Amino acid sequence: MPEIGLFDAMYSARALRRLKPDPVPQEIITRILDAAVRAPSAGNAQNWVFVVVRDAEQRRRLGVIYRKASDIASEVYKARGCPPHMSDEQYRRFLTSGAYLWDHMGDAPILLVPCLRDRPPPPRETLPPSVQAIYAGELAYEQRIRGASIYPAVQNIILACRAFGLGTVITTNHIRCEDEVKDLLHLPSDVSTYALMPIGYPQGKFGPLARRPVAEVAYADRWGAAWPT
Ligand SMILES: Cc1cc2nc3c(=O)[nH]c(=O)nc-3n(C[C@H](O)[C@H](O)[C@H](O)COP(=O)(O)O)c2cc1C
Repeated sequence: MPEIGLFDAMYSARALRRLKPDPVPQEIITRILDAAVRAPSAGNAQNWVFVVVRDAEQRRRLGVIYRKASDIASEVYKARGCPPHMSDEQYRRFLTSGAYLWDHMGDAPILLVPCLRDRPPPPRETLPPSVQAIYAGELAYEQRIRGASIYPAVQNIILACRAFGLGTVITTNHIRCEDEVKDLLHLPSDVSTYALMPIGYPQGKFGPLARRPVAEVAYADRWGAAWPT
């Protein structure tokens, strides 16, 4: 078992997009998935599925879809511009790193696709009148929290990869072309993908991670009241 402190892992697991083609042992992937499924999910439903894509042709095709979806994403990024907390140089490096993956997603030895099976709420008529009256709100609530049943597992994957010296990054661009991904992976209609994660031994180094400071993003008791740091 690799030895790395939890905080060291959290502070250094940066987005690593340049990966070596060297194979990753299957046992390590299994350990990473075993860490993923320790995550919480709404109602403890554990309605997740993780498709591990190793086949070279499947990876190539996923890479092509990712490229197509990223062309849309790049137009959106251009229109949005540099976020205020980033310097022009930081933003340029972010765009360069992201653009590298557009053409290299399929080169990673593993492409991991975390998915969720739909978990529709009980039919309206099975609920008491008090809940039937607010059924639309309940449906909206279910939609709002959907991703919260898979993204904690994704973060466990990121940290477990870090512990094994593997690079990865959560990506979601492919969701813009999700029907093509579902066709390629033969996913049932009630299963959706939530991320596409290249995994491999990194060409670059881990962390440290630059982030906006706590003093800028935390409030005490109510919006606008500074959190003392
Ligand atoms: C919801 C979400 C979606 C993301 N989608 C993409 C993506 O499609 N492509 C990509 O290259 N990175 C993607 N990222 C990675 C972010 O760009 C990255 O986490 C962020 O720039 C911080 O990078 P750092 O940890 O190296 O500082 C995504 C991250 C999140 C949380």
